Amino acid sequence: MTVPFANFNPPPYHVLFTGAPMYYSYFSTGSLRIDSEHANIDSMIDLCRSKSGNWIPTARILVSAFVNHLDSEEKICREEGLAMTREHLAEHQLLKSRLALIDRQVVNHDLEKNVFLSMLRDILFYHISNFDKQLNPA
Ligand SMILES: [Fe+2]
Ligand SMILES: [Fe+2]
Repeated sequence: MTVPFANFNPPPYHVLFTGAPMYYSYFSTGSLRIDSEHANIDSMIDLCRSKSGNWIPTARILVSAFVNHLDSEEKICREEGLAMTREHLAEHQLLKSRLALIDRQVVNHDLEKNVFLSMLRDILFYHISNFDKQLNPA
């Protein structure tokens, strides 16, 4: 099994004063709408992590929310005049292909829950660090 960004070693995630971990909301993008979508995805990761029984339906909702967010982020950027680059758009397309593959692996029980969550956290952290963080450099 190939783990994307296997060599990527993010620093420990932040923890809000509420105790909620932050992965995708690690940095503020400067758009409240985008930041709140990122925070929602973080909450869904936490929900999936805390599932003691069948985690697969929650994982699939999480993957689907992330895919929907990519389209939503592009729309918000157009509406708010944020700096969505050609490279960022291409990365979203790549992410959609990766997420479709991950979803298939989840459905086929090819991934342990912890491996799934770790992959997703690494992908989200990489994406916000290298792309979403640049949306509003001001
Ligand atoms: Fe995003
Ligand atoms: Fe993005």
